[in-house]
Amino acid sequence: MIGIFDSGIGGLSVFREIYRLLPEESYIYFADSAHCPYGEKSREYVMDRAREITTFLVSRGADIITVACNTATAAAISGLREEFSFPDRPGAVRKLMQISGGRRDHVKFIGMEPAVKPAAEMTRSGIIGVLATAGTLNGPKYRTSREMFTKGVKVVEHVGSGFVELVERGITEGAEAEATVEKSIRPLLDAGADVIVLGCTHYPFLMDTIRKIAGEGVRIIDPAPAVARHLVDVMSQDGLLDGSTAESGRTNPAPGIPDIRLFSSGDPHILQTTFNRLIAHSE
Ligand code: DGL
Repeated sequence: MIGIFDSGIGGLSVFREIYRLLPEESYIYFADSAHCPYGEKSREYVMDRAREITTFLVSRGADIITVACNTATAAAISGLREEFSFPDRPGAVRKLMQISGGRRDHVKFIGMEPAVKPAAEMTRSGIIGVLATAGTLNGPKYRTSREMFTKGVKVVEHVGSGFVELVERGITEGAEAEATVEKSIRPLLDAGADVIVLGCTHYPFLMDTIRKIAGEGVRIIDPAPAVARHLVDVMSQDGLLDGSTAESGRTNPAPGIPDIRLFSSGDPHILQTTFNRLIAHSE
């Protein structure tokens, strides 16, 4: 079973891409909406949440986990790997075996990162914009990628202020969404960016509004499809693509309806509603 988590409903934009490639798999999704947003929280706080959610997902049957949140990836993925992927502390493997009901002695993690490399290859103006949370922009992982992959390119960054809160309230279009998006995107456009990277998994929900404001000449990059392809590669290397992650004994829902369990630490209604809308739109 594939586990996916995010600070809220944003990770569903990643689930959508994974599901396109792996429609037969079983999924479990956790939205940490009661603790959302993660963007301005400390690394320790986000690591604690990530550890707790991972334990929950593994105990419910997850064999591999996609951290469908750039902020949580920046704050926690190395810590998660230390604890769950290569546990070398005494007792750690035993604990993982216990949590997973004896199924797994390691769990792999796939993370999110702003796609600055393809953006740098794509730009014609030589200027790219990155929209992300403060936690992601200040993380060492992003800073290293920016250093490595954007030589000769100017990178303009901006926090998508208020984007996550809007999406969590189910607002993705209309006057309020446009005003909020305009504020954060205008500085990138004014600086001459012709490619904008969406470095937060909530932001693709605002894609139509972002496109409307950015105009036709600006490319918008959502890294989710690339992350989904990477997950498939890792699952295949780890021998998880032989149907073994699809939970046995569960009858698959009707064709076109994903086999997924949804959990939220906040309002489950908004998660379910967003999920239904997403699936209906991806038909
Ligand atoms: N979806 C999360 C991310 O990708 C949102 C961050 C937040 O909760 O602030 O970064």
